[in-house]
Amino acid sequence: MPSVSPLSLSELTEHPIVQAPMAGGPSCPELAGSVSESGGLGFLAAGYKTPEAMYEEIKQLRGQTQRPFGVNLFMPQPDLADRGALERYRAQLAGEATWFETELGETDHAADDAYDAKLAILFDDPVPVVSFTFGCPTRQVLERFARRGTYTIVTVTSPGEAQTAEFNGAHAVCVQGVEAGGHQGTHRDDPQADGTGSGLGLLCLVTQVKEAVRIPLVATGGLMRGRQIAAVLAAGASAAQLGTAFLVCPESGADLAHKQAMTNSVFARTEFTRAFSGRPGRALVNRFLREHGPYAPAAYPQVHHLTAPVRKAAAKAKDPQGMALWAGQGHRLARDLPAAQLMDVLVTELAVARERLLKPDGTQSAAVGGGVPAGGAAADRTGGPGGTGAAGSPA
Ligand SMILES: Cc1cc2nc3c(=O)[nH]c(=O)nc-3n(C[C@H](O)[C@H](O)[C@H](O)COP(=O)(O)O)c2cc1C
Repeated sequence: MPSVSPLSLSELTEHPIVQAPMAGGPSCPELAGSVSESGGLGFLAAGYKTPEAMYEEIKQLRGQTQRPFGVNLFMPQPDLADRGALERYRAQLAGEATWFETELGETDHAADDAYDAKLAILFDDPVPVVSFTFGCPTRQVLERFARRGTYTIVTVTSPGEAQTAEFNGAHAVCVQGVEAGGHQGTHRDDPQADGTGSGLGLLCLVTQVKEAVRIPLVATGGLMRGRQIAAVLAAGASAAQLGTAFLVCPESGADLAHKQAMTNSVFARTEFTRAFSGRPGRALVNRFLREHGPYAPAAYPQVHHLTAPVRKAAAKAKDPQGMALWAGQGHRLARDLPAAQLMDVLVTELAVARERLLKPDGTQSAAVGGGVPAGGAAADRTGGPGGTGAAGSPA
């Protein structure tokens, strides 16, 4: 296959908005297609899927949009599971299985999420963007993608992880703050730690990573409004990735009870928990999380497989108290709008916020007068849309 150069991040999207890959159903071809068609970057989530199912979704998405899109892969995980702790957790969850009239799942699945087979498909029939979570691919893998014209993004939760991604040849890093919904993409899950990665909030983390690497940053975690997107672009990110905001869209494949829980006042807050999967992820606090979170073992993906039938049965029974309600800290700001409309609203809000950055009190700000363009020269250096005149860029 002849070598092709990947597009830059600003060439991949008209607007600096990425729809987060969300495994377990939400980021289906309908959602990704609608976001890409609206000038954002739509993403498919290959996690937990067979290689064949991943490829089927890619083909479906290509039928919906000619525009760039991404596919997200889980990195293979070391087996950290303490079998005794896992069996104790199985015993502790027995009542859940009885209540939801199901069995607990088998835990002897492979922990590599069919990584090699998925890579083989993506090398053979390249897609515009591939991102990775739970670790960093080798230089060889990242180089091979680059030669095929695929732009690569590695999720990071600390400046050190970002440096590893840059060293191994990633085109960009997805900087994930602690506000983020779903799993933290920490490269190594430390069973002793609280599982919050570096534990840094997004703005602080973006600022630190910006000073640690030269490649573009995609900021993610708790972003629900255009003005927050403007804030992370001003802090040095080239684009913003939103999960929870898109999860509630009608095109999202998330379960209806999950979507409705986001703005239901019964679910007032989120927490990190290992209760559902064995790896720390942020979810709405519900009965399952409260009861089982405190003693859930560090055993990913074994706990994911163990709890899967209970979570499925709870969804079938429309009982959000037994489901994994993955959500970012901004969940209450979720808007139930079709994805294209949500994109329009976000783009407009971003434009207004950027104008405000220029003229906070109706006049040109001193900082801007002093020659610091919104989006920043540094964003331009890295090829991001932050300062390239994407929607809402000040004239
Ligand atoms: C339901 C759900 C599933 C997720 N699945 C994935 C995934 O498969 N791969 C990934 O890299 N990130 C995944 N994430 C994390 C998102 O990529 C992103 O970091 C997060 O949604 C950002 O926070 P926000 O939800 O507050 O916008 C998931 C998040 C949610 C809410």
